[in-house]
Amino acid sequence: MGMEQENEYAIEVEDLVVRYGDQTVLDGVSFQIRRGETFVILGGSGHGKSTLLRNLVGLMRPFAGRIRINGQDFTAMSDAGRMEVRKKIGMCFQGSALFNSMSLADNVALPLREHTKLKESTIDIMTRIKLELVGLGGYEDYLPAELSGGMRKRAGLARAMAMDPEIIFYDEPSAGLDPIVAAGIDMLIRKMQSTFNLTSVVVTHEMASVKLIADRVCMLRHGRILAMGTLDELAASDNPFVRQFFERRPDEDQEDRDDYLRALTGGSERTAPGPQEPEDGR
Ligand SMILES: Nc1ncnc2c1ncn2[C@@H]1O[C@H](COP(=O)(O)OP(=O)(O)OP(=O)(O)O)[C@@H](O)[C@H]1O
Ligand SMILES: [Mg+2]
Repeated sequence: MGMEQENEYAIEVEDLVVRYGDQTVLDGVSFQIRRGETFVILGGSGHGKSTLLRNLVGLMRPFAGRIRINGQDFTAMSDAGRMEVRKKIGMCFQGSALFNSMSLADNVALPLREHTKLKESTIDIMTRIKLELVGLGGYEDYLPAELSGGMRKRAGLARAMAMDPEIIFYDEPSAGLDPIVAAGIDMLIRKMQSTFNLTSVVVTHEMASVKLIADRVCMLRHGRILAMGTLDELAASDNPFVRQFFERRPDEDQEDRDDYLRALTGGSERTAPGPQEPEDGR
């Protein structure tokens, strides 16, 4: 501390308010993310995680509040200014968002073709390097449908890395993957962070991932920040909702429904808690 360059933060969020129509989805969210840090956003389904990412990458304008990227006020910028900033940002979407009719190479090359005037031969080399980086060297001509879920996530990462971003966002990078493939994605996230000193923002609800990758964690609940700190700090929190998340307990009304099921089956069926719940891979 104390020796940092003038602007220590890659991202600064101040009193962010986001609405869809009448529904307030983010309600006064503030945090700062240091350069090179891996910052994890935790929170239950529907609590505003993807919405927060959409605002941070500039796909949506907030109702109120401020987002600074590298010290520049992203929210107040013209569209042209935002476009320049967005070139320094990579985004891995929840569910990869690859174009199904395009080969992997064309998917990865797309941002380079759209935003640069590089020669095709240069783009070809850069595309190969990015696919190699994520362990998909040799898969240039494959279509997304010809790949496994884990490989598609990797391809999405290669595309997010196409423009050599300084900041990368991952929305649920390991959701819906088996634990071994998911751990492989976690390792890749760490590799990207350490090799390129990338500032990484990861939305997840996989606690195993959080343990592997997070420098700091923030927890969203109903559009507000419930807790923020290192994983150890959050694990020691006595906030009941933080505890519930860490201990993987269902909501109270969920338990009521389980009782109802038990009554229906005459108490003969035991309801299996937590670990049997289906994966939310949206
Ligand atoms: N495009 C949209 N238009 C209207 N409402 C939306 C839109 N996108 C999200 N919402 C609403 O905003 C709230 C937060 O959604 P969001 O997708 O940000 O949650 P999330 O935390 O990413 O959930 P999940 O873990 O299921 O991906 C939800 O109530 C959702 O219905
Ligand atoms: Mg989401």
